[in-house]
Amino acid sequence: MSKIDVLLGLQWGDEGKGKVVDVLAPTYDVIVRFQGGPNAGHTLVFDDKKYVLHCLPSGIFQENTVNLIGNGMVLDPVVLAAEIAEVAEGGFSIVDRLKIAQKTHLILPTHRFLDAAYERRKGKQAIGSTLRGIGPAYTDKVSRHGLRVGDILLPDFDERLQALIDRHQQQLEWLDYSEYDLGSAMIEWHEAITQLREIPQVDDSYFLNDQLSKGKRVLAEGAQGTLLDISYGSYPYVTSSHTITGGVCTGLGVPPSAIGDVFGVFKAYCTRVGGGPFPSELFDETGETIQKNGHEFGATTGRERRCGWLDLVALRYACMINGVTKLFMMKGDVLSGFDTLQIATAYNGVNGEVTNSFPYDVSQSTVSPAYQAVTGWQEDVTSAKEWNDLPNTMKDYITLIEDELKLPISIVSVGPDRNQTIKRDTKVE
Ligand code: IMP
Repeated sequence: MSKIDVLLGLQWGDEGKGKVVDVLAPTYDVIVRFQGGPNAGHTLVFDDKKYVLHCLPSGIFQENTVNLIGNGMVLDPVVLAAEIAEVAEGGFSIVDRLKIAQKTHLILPTHRFLDAAYERRKGKQAIGSTLRGIGPAYTDKVSRHGLRVGDILLPDFDERLQALIDRHQQQLEWLDYSEYDLGSAMIEWHEAITQLREIPQVDDSYFLNDQLSKGKRVLAEGAQGTLLDISYGSYPYVTSSHTITGGVCTGLGVPPSAIGDVFGVFKAYCTRVGGGPFPSELFDETGETIQKNGHEFGATTGRERRCGWLDLVALRYACMINGVTKLFMMKGDVLSGFDTLQIATAYNGVNGEVTNSFPYDVSQSTVSPAYQAVTGWQEDVTSAKEWNDLPNTMKDYITLIEDELKLPISIVSVGPDRNQTIKRDTKVE
């Protein structure tokens, strides 16, 4: 019996998970997404081409890897159809390599309209949703009104669909939102549903437990990040799914005992897109430089990402919740060129107390980080191939993080390409 390794983000998303899944994919038989939906944008760069995946697991470019959309996700068939067309154009087929869990909930066009309507209602409190219908689709799941992928094969699917759309239209009316064109959106959606009927559906729990009993290597690919988790993130500025290791069990139907390694992915600094608290955020030229050098613009929405220093309080919290066994540090190259770097090691509370814990009321309080200054590095590290190619000051930065988190950093990424990856551990070779 093999175990499922988990790869997930430890910050506010956009840590570079897509790239690293792509690097690891050849060593896995099955790659699975267990939560989230088209709010995610996993960027993969190879052979001078860039792909941004929203629904498809990042193993789709490996010839022998099976990819599964797990039940914990919410699926927009229109986005999936477009993505399949894009990878097909690049010469990659999904035939025999993509499966969808029957219990995955569907995103309807009206979920997107509701997302926009709710955000507008919130005014200044808007969370900066990606407006992909994620929150309303999960709301329908929890309130037991949702439609699942398996339903598209039922004889009364059309009636179920109409009942849900009627419900949504009543909600939209109540929200006084009428800026939408349901007719054309539904034409596109029905076309995508016709394509979706061609994709093999599975019961993900039977499928995955069977794969594990056959000794197959399975990797669960997280989306967003720990600090956007619906329960453990900076609520209410969060997404609507469980982005943490616990979400793997509920999002795929596998027991906790099936979890193997947990790879925690973090950027060498922090970013956040949308609203919400961000204790180590930079509002100065340094933040702008990181944004520019790191190309910190949303892969899904194109929005500017807010940038700040690495936050070890938040990272420690994320490692604890997820049971991280190995760390992967991404975008180390972006920090080249600074004389001094800062790392937040604790928070100063409003009442003068110092804390190492991520606060309950992080969204309301104004904690200010206590920083440790470390020497930066000037060298361009984008062509470094191994640990010893890195400047000593960068090695010190990495070692400090390992010491603070008491976990090994097994991968150091020094650029967007597959090849710009330094592996320090044979387990991830
Ligand atoms: P939603 O999940 O689209 O409703 O967005 C909720 C919050 O999570 C917003 O602040 C988004 O910017 C953020 N968010 C959602 N998905 C991602 C992601 O993949 N990367 C980064 N932020 C995300």
